[in-house]
Amino acid sequence: MNIILLGPPGAGKGTQARRLVEERGMIQLSTGDMLREARTSGTEMGSKVAEVMDRGDLVTDEIVIGLIEERLEAEHAGGFIFDGFPRTLAQADALEELLERHGEALDAVIEMQVDDEALVARITGRATCASCGEVFNDATRPIPEDGKCPSCGGTEFIRRADDNEESLRQRLMEYYKKTSPLIGYYYCKGKLRSVNGLAGIDEVAAQISAVLD
Ligand code: AP5
Repeated sequence: MNIILLGPPGAGKGTQARRLVEERGMIQLSTGDMLREARTSGTEMGSKVAEVMDRGDLVTDEIVIGLIEERLEAEHAGGFIFDGFPRTLAQADALEELLERHGEALDAVIEMQVDDEALVARITGRATCASCGEVFNDATRPIPEDGKCPSCGGTEFIRRADDNEESLRQRLMEYYKKTSPLIGYYYCKGKLRSVNGLAGIDEVAAQISAVLD
């Protein structure tokens, strides 16, 4: 089963994708994670990507489609969770073509509905384990008092450079201008399923499971 998790920054896409990997053995393909890896590569492309991400703008379709194509070539088997991809209609068309080329199909697009008010607290309070990528939040899921990640025991936690109110405003603008048209696009294709992303993490996970089952 191949699915897309669609929603604005902070909707909980990464949090839910990690659960699906653990619980269902699916493969998470997060273009955000791939780009964060690229920006530390020391290449010219890496530093251009870093500038764009820190501003809160979208990276070019060409770069992200290339990253997804590489991963699909490498992984072979399906069961993909596309997390943060596609983000434009051009990326959606490219994904359809790539899946077809690999004999795969898209089964569902899960739209995570949230309101903008909740996103500021989620984004500015986020911390991620540097070793395993487990996601925490100062308000709703704090880093344990012993300073150790419960998943891997790691003790280093990262706060993203674009997790501030100014970048978030720009990321939301990009979402509404370029990504939200995908909601109508996938609705017309009969693929769209919506869940209430404002519910607690376990409740959102249960809603997604119900859709997948
Ligand atoms: P990316 O890394 O994809 O970031 P994003 O879409 O902005 O989404 P986030 O990772 O911020 O949020 P999320 O929905 O995963 O939320 P999370 O689960 O962490 O992209 C970053 C940048 O890369 C983009 O701005 C762009 O420049 C570039 N980029 C990436 N893909 C691209 C593409 N396809 N095309 C072009 N450019 C691209 O949760 C957030 C917080 O909320 C956490 O603290 C978590 O603990 C908490 N939380 C989660 N769920 C709940 C809940 N149900 N209740 C309470 N708290 C919750």
